[in-house]
Amino acid sequence: MTTQTFAPRVFSGIQPSGGLTLGNYLGAIKRFVSMQDEMPCVYCMVDLHAITVWQDPKDLAHNTRELAAGFIASGISPEKSILINQSQVPEHAQLGWIFNCVARMGWMQRMTQFKDKAGKNAQNASLGLFGYPALMAADILVYHATHVPVGEDQKQHLELTRDIAAKFNHDYGVDFFPITEPVIEGAATRVMSLRDGSKKMSKSDPSDASRINMTDDADAIAKKIRKAKTDPDALPSEAAGLADRPEARNLVNIYAALNDQSVDAVLAEVGGQQFGTFKPKLAELAVSRLSPISEEMARLMNEPDEIDRILRRGAEQAREITAPILAKTYEIVGMVR
Ligand code: TYM
Repeated sequence: MTTQTFAPRVFSGIQPSGGLTLGNYLGAIKRFVSMQDEMPCVYCMVDLHAITVWQDPKDLAHNTRELAAGFIASGISPEKSILINQSQVPEHAQLGWIFNCVARMGWMQRMTQFKDKAGKNAQNASLGLFGYPALMAADILVYHATHVPVGEDQKQHLELTRDIAAKFNHDYGVDFFPITEPVIEGAATRVMSLRDGSKKMSKSDPSDASRINMTDDADAIAKKIRKAKTDPDALPSEAAGLADRPEARNLVNIYAALNDQSVDAVLAEVGGQQFGTFKPKLAELAVSRLSPISEEMARLMNEPDEIDRILRRGAEQAREITAPILAKTYEIVGMVR
């Protein structure tokens, strides 16, 4: 355990491996925005992580800029927070290598995300995909970040980040890396597919109807919600009544998160309603919250030079933090400088 106290700092990242979904927004970005007023924050497009599975180069560049636009349009201010593209801050990959040598094969083999992504053909997965969580630990620890807001699916990776920090500190007899706190909070830490309440909403799902994309227009959002899978019963008036109703629970969670309400508060209002009444309300709420973001994203995407300028400036600010931490790490490890 560390005894040193570390100054609070937030780090989190999103892969530019496709468009942003409502899951990314509610599970992560919304919290990123509010944390800006609580402590210094660094938010990252993790392009090095994205290429652990094949990315067409043109798509990667487009998706990276679109993700930056999504961050800014959602309320992340480049004046308050440091906004970066991972490959522009080389200390991430450099510390990632050190952590490849700290993390154990057995730890990586337990990662459920690797198993899910590699599928049946794990022998054909990239080495990068296997080592992915060590680079993620480096992303966080190269800033000595103490708080990491994420959705539920990243919990295991954050536990591994803590294990890597603890093993490094132990092996080298130092108290150098903080033991990071995951921040997994709110009604929508796991937004589910609109077509199947047992599956996570994901940008890689082949069915576009399964997710709301942050670039969807009002008609598309309303249509996807109208067609979302539900059951025939009316909504309950208390959260306990959602226990065996994954699709109903998902739509109520989405409503609560979009409207900054608790699930109980939502059910106190809509309990007893049929989906035919509730879905249009949800669609109206979703459109009112998401349309201003998608419009601002589209505007920003017309100014790619401005996005690139923001990312270059972010990288300069980031390196003021990461360069000394990497230099100290090399010194601890015994590397001649
Ligand atoms: P990624 O790109 O898959 O997702 C980005 C963030 O969105 C959250 N999220 C969701 N939350 C709720 N419901 C969903 N359906 C949903 N889908 C995605 C994720 O939990 C995540 O917070 N490994 C990370 C990227 C990463 C990172 C980091 C995160 C790289 N380095 C360092 C934090 C700190 C990932 O693949 O996220």
